[in-house]
Amino acid sequence: MKRNDDNHDDNEEQSNTNEKNEMVNAVLKKVKRLCNETLVAMKTPTDFFPKVEETEKLKKSFFYRWNMKLSNTASLDDFTIMKTIGVGSFGHVFCSLYKKTKTPYAIKVLNKEQMVRMQQVDRVQKQILQSVKNTFLIDLRFVFKTNSNLFLVMPLVKGGDLYTHMQMYSEFLRDERCIRFYAAQVILAFEYLHAMNIIYRDLKPENILLECDGYIRIADFGFAKFISTTNNKKALTKSFIGTPEYMAPEMLISTERKKGYTFSVDWWSLGILVYELKTGNPPFLNDNLIQMFDHIIKGKYSTPKNFDETLSDLLKKMLHVRVNMRLGCGKLGSQEIKFHSWFSKVNWDAIRNKTETAYFVPNCTSAYLVQMKNFFQYPEILIKENDQEEYSSLFKNF
Ligand SMILES: Nc1ncnc2c1ncn2[C@@H]1O[C@H](COP(=O)(O)OP(=O)(O)OP(=O)(O)O)[C@@H](O)[C@H]1O
Ligand SMILES: [Mg+2]
Repeated sequence: MKRNDDNHDDNEEQSNTNEKNEMVNAVLKKVKRLCNETLVAMKTPTDFFPKVEETEKLKKSFFYRWNMKLSNTASLDDFTIMKTIGVGSFGHVFCSLYKKTKTPYAIKVLNKEQMVRMQQVDRVQKQILQSVKNTFLIDLRFVFKTNSNLFLVMPLVKGGDLYTHMQMYSEFLRDERCIRFYAAQVILAFEYLHAMNIIYRDLKPENILLECDGYIRIADFGFAKFISTTNNKKALTKSFIGTPEYMAPEMLISTERKKGYTFSVDWWSLGILVYELKTGNPPFLNDNLIQMFDHIIKGKYSTPKNFDETLSDLLKKMLHVRVNMRLGCGKLGSQEIKFHSWFSKVNWDAIRNKTETAYFVPNCTSAYLVQMKNFFQYPEILIKENDQEEYSSLFKNF
């Protein structure tokens, strides 16, 4: 009986493998047509397939956390605020120490009044932060509010953000091995977010944090958006949001915007990021915002003379103005990008499992960490509090 079962399994396995190989070939053919000359075969064919059961499992736990009513899981008194490490549009990020365990955390403080003034009340990013769970994304550990502010407590990513390192180690970080390493992780992070129906919309070096092992964690879900799905069709979103240099044409063209856009804007921003990491500036950078938007809409940018041909080709395909021609936006999604020959040397499993050694590892010696040298040195900021609770009804769900 057992023997038969085993045989049966073997046969089934064999036919599964044949089926898989056939599918791999079919997919390869399709991708080749899409991307023309610059393709290579992948080493691990499993990468072709969205692992359906795995995604379903991830979704289930994502929505479990999404529906959790989290509030006041700590209080300001539980932390010693140590240093300002980020200054943003609605608040600040501080390095802090959780008194009970002496664990360092980053605390993002959002000022209620500022959020109301800038009509950003519904952009509190808490729900997305509390729901995501991925190696390459930051997550939420505690949440609370005071009279005047909202507090999001996240693990402190000790290596600082990529933007700060770009100022210090510009030549070193421009090495393509390094850029590819970061880009691959962004792809894996976006695959997860998109599978959870979230558009990120704010990719840039400032929001990419480095762990002490050199791997990334993407922070800042301030512009991220959950897109609901009805009848298996993804809803489109229309907001004009993001960092201008990184905005995709479909977000700028008003007729396109009226129709709405989805995940395509994230793949566009990955193209911009790769270009910025390579050259030091985003491709459409211009002091004149109108001119910059005009160039984005026309896809008008230039590459330096000594630019690598394969990279140039990748960027041409990622910064394609027409969404349906852009790499990552077709039926095969992120696989289209992964299959480009610029990524041929990437071992996706090794990156996913963090077994590959990072090309650049930030200095995380204790002397360095104590002085917070991986972070931009901001003047210290005080958290201002009112005597009375402000906007209690507007932020009642926080
Ligand atoms: N968990 C963290 N660990 C280490 N540093 C962090 C962390 N979160 C944020 N930072 C630092 O603070 C900076 C600002 O944080 P973040 O990007 O979340 O806020 P922001 O840009 O002000 O947000 P918003 O766009 O919502 O105004 C980051 O660029 C990074 O340097
Ligand atoms: Mg930010």
